[in-house]
This record gives sequence, C-alpha cells and structure tokens, in this order.
Amino acid sequence: DWTTTNVVEESIAAIREQVGSKRAVCGLSGGVDSAVAAALVQRAIGSQLTCVYVDHGLMRKGESEQVEKDFVAATGVQLKVVDAEEQFLEALAGVSDPEQKRKIIGREFIRVFEQAAAEIVAEAGEHGESVEFLVQGTLYPDVVESGGGTGTANIKSHHNVGGLPEDLEFQLVEPLRRLFKDEVRMVGAELGLPDEIVHRQPFPGPGLGIRIVGEVTKERLDLLREADAIARQELTAAGLDRDIWQCPVVLLADVRSVGVQGDGRTYGHPIVLRPVSSEDAMTADWSRLPYDVLARISTRITNEVADVNRVVLDVTSKPPGTIEWE
Ligand code: XMP
Repeated sequence: DWTTTNVVEESIAAIREQVGSKRAVCGLSGGVDSAVAAALVQRAIGSQLTCVYVDHGLMRKGESEQVEKDFVAATGVQLKVVDAEEQFLEALAGVSDPEQKRKIIGREFIRVFEQAAAEIVAEAGEHGESVEFLVQGTLYPDVVESGGGTGTANIKSHHNVGGLPEDLEFQLVEPLRRLFKDEVRMVGAELGLPDEIVHRQPFPGPGLGIRIVGEVTKERLDLLREADAIARQELTAAGLDRDIWQCPVVLLADVRSVGVQGDGRTYGHPIVLRPVSSEDAMTADWSRLPYDVLARISTRITNEVADVNRVVLDVTSKPPGTIEWE
C-alpha cells in the first residue's frame, strides 16, 4: 500500500541494489525534482554520491545559497559547486534573441556539467573507484511523455581532461520514475528537506536569462534579482504562494519611459509582473491578485530598485500569451 514511508524505503532498497558499491553523480538545478532525487540517493548510498551544482549567475536572489547551504545541511550530501557566471555572461554578451539565449544557456550548461562530472570521475579513479551512474529526477509524467524508455546517458567530453575516456557513459538512476509531482513533494518532506525546496514554484532552467527582454548583463541581472526578490517577499507575506502557480518578474531592458521621482525627471525601465494560476502550465490564467498586494509590490520596486520607474501587470491568459516572456 502507498505510504510515503514505504515509497522511501522501497526506493532506497532499489537504489542500493542498482548501484552496489559504485559511485554516482547528480546535477542539482535548484528545482524540486533533482533535489528529492538526490536526497533519496544520498539516503541510500551516502558518500558514494557527489552532486554538481552549476551556478550560471542567472538564479534568483538567495537560490544558490539555498542549494549550497540549506540542501547540504538537510542531506549531508557531497556537493561540487561550479561558479560559471562569467562563462555564461560572456557567452550571452550581445544576444537578445530568446531562442538564441536558450540555446546558448543550454549549451554552456552541458559543457560545465560534463567538465565537472569528468573531474569527479577522474578523482574517483585515483582512488580505484568508478563512477557509473547518473541520477536524474525524471517523474512519471516525463516517462509517459517520452515513451517510457530508460537506460543510459552518453556524455561526450568536449574537454581534454587528462586521461579520461572521450565518451563517459552512465547508467541512469531515476528514483522518481513512478511518482507524480505531489508525491515527490511528500517524499521530499519525509526526507527532511526544507519547505522552501519542497514547495518551490516552477522556475525555468534558463533562469533570469529569459526574463530580461533584451541583452543579458550583470547589471540588469542584479536589478531584476532585486525586483524579483521584492515581489516574492510580498507574495509570501500575503500568504499567496500556494494560490498562484508562479509569478515571473520581467525586466523590459530595451524599453524606457519617463517618470518623476524625488526632485526630478527620470527615464527608466519598466518591470512586468506576470502572476498566473494554472494546473499544469499548458494553459494558464492571470491571477487576480489583491490590489493592496500589487500596490505594495509596485511601491517597493520603484522605491528600492534603481533605474526602475514603472511597474506593469500582465493580464494575458495562456493562450495566447506564454507564461514566460521569452
Ligand atoms: P511557458 O512560458 O512555455 O512556460 O508558458 C510553461 C512552464 O514552463 C516553464 N519553463 C521552463 N522550465 N526550462 C524549464 O525547466 C525551460 O527552458 C522553461 N521555459 C519555460 C515556465 O516557467 C512555466 O512554468
């Protein structure tokens, strides 16, 4: 019978059986699925697991710390953090096209992750061990969507890390393959993960990179991070986190409008709030947030974020709009 405790115990037994005394790597994205998968595998095989977190500099305020401190504190997992902000920003320099940005971020991510995995493989090899498994947070709906296949992942090494095989082949460990999202959250809670991780709202892999309409720069990211943190604080304070699906905050970096602030005229950028309600992100409606909450967010963002002199609300459903702006 289905209880969270049974699911955890059975998964742990299955992971131990599959991995034996070999080693495994797992990429953490900051999202619920990879966090719960990693926590389960950590429970099962302990220090035979190493997690990799690629900090691409496109995360929201406090999110990298959440992985680096809170997740590690809750699980005791061995974590390799790669600070790749400069690499991502360089690759994104001068690029405004949304699809280009997505391609570049995806490509750099794979490069950085592969390099890190290759280093872990090399270090394990020095100790006479082998890394043969890659942990992934695949859920049941993903399995159904992709036709149910399972097996191996082939990681091509683009980098000449001394003495490594050209292609690293991993077998997949997918402990969440039979679970739905709400069950994954229950398992995460059972494993002692913090609420902020277990109940995290969806956030796109390319991060804030696709929430800046225009070129992505460090200054613009810092500005958006501040505005986004304010919106999240106020939504949380108002108890609205579980009423909305997510609330992208978007910087229109290529748009300026005239304002008046303090003693003078300003010529700043607009911030867009995009609160949506949804069941599965395939369709969505714009959330009717209370006016007083919207007012607080607007006042704080225009007061506290330099260069932003206007806050606008997106009142488009999906379709025709997508949830993200890019
Ligand atoms: P759209 O904008 O297509 O978004 O309506 C639907 C849902 O997917 C999220 N999203 C992504 N998630 N990688 C992700 O992991 C991505 O590249 C990506 N793009 C959009 C979005 O936040 C929303 O929840």
